[in-house]
Amino acid sequence: MASATATVRHPKGPAEPAASPDAGTFLREALDSSVGAKVLVGLTGAGLVLFVLFHMIGNLKLLQGPEAINGYAYFLKHDLGALIWIARASLLFIFVLHLSLAIRLKLRSVAARPIPYAFPGSAQASVASQTMIWTGVVILLFTLFHLAHYTFGWVKGAEVIDPTTGHLVWKNYLNLTDAKGHHDVYEMMVAGFSNVYLAILYLIAQIVLFVHLRHGIPSAFQTLGLKNARFRGPIDVLGLILALVILVGNCAIVLAVKFEFVQAQYKGF
Ligand code: HEM
Repeated sequence: MASATATVRHPKGPAEPAASPDAGTFLREALDSSVGAKVLVGLTGAGLVLFVLFHMIGNLKLLQGPEAINGYAYFLKHDLGALIWIARASLLFIFVLHLSLAIRLKLRSVAARPIPYAFPGSAQASVASQTMIWTGVVILLFTLFHLAHYTFGWVKGAEVIDPTTGHLVWKNYLNLTDAKGHHDVYEMMVAGFSNVYLAILYLIAQIVLFVHLRHGIPSAFQTLGLKNARFRGPIDVLGLILALVILVGNCAIVLAVKFEFVQAQYKGF
């Protein structure tokens, strides 16, 4: 039985103020709405572009010789302490978020338009924008292979055979050490890209990455509302330049080994 003192709300009284959403609800709503998801795809994409750019700059130390690249790798893995694990966890988080939201957006747009446009041109989407999801999947597969190759040393070509004797020299790239006893990343990269199949695979992956970034960078600016009529041209050029810099820088690393600009220090290799 209701108590006599209970507050009676008049049916025409002022509406109860909406409770302000907590952080969890806000994030869930943002992820659920297509606009929120697009903004997050843009922001996480920007984070990944920064990673790829800094990763390339670091890897270019290969051209400076073993001391530079091995010292840099040692600094990242040992001198940064817990910071490297925070960076790795953040990278994994934004990678997974970027990928899962992009796939969900694509599935939603396919579900909303089961019958394709009669005239592809009328969709006002370039070939690059339509292939974003596929180039993205190829980049994911490349990244998984790349981790298996250089981070875990699981790829068959990671074994090094002495060409003169045919004997196994190194069981695994990860066991290589330099004169200081540090992981010999220089020798590992030279051995990796001396394998012609691996070199071609890396070059193809860089071209796919270029196609993805060339459209993805200007598109992220657009989603974040930074690409108005005035800046449209410069932002498209910026996207093209950044994507080209990453393509040329990464291919230079692979080709420098292939054309022996960078050579193995190990005499038997
Ligand atoms: C030709 C281009 C590239 C080269 C030469 C290269 C080289 C390397 C090397 C040598 C490592 C291992 C470092 C070590 O063990 O000390 C590494 C790790 C890694 N690479 Fe690349 N990479 C390239 C492109 C890429 C691209 C395009 C991506 C992502 C889209 C990527 C993502 C990663 C990730 C996530 C790691 C693991 C980082 C960690 O363990 O902290 N790499 N890369």
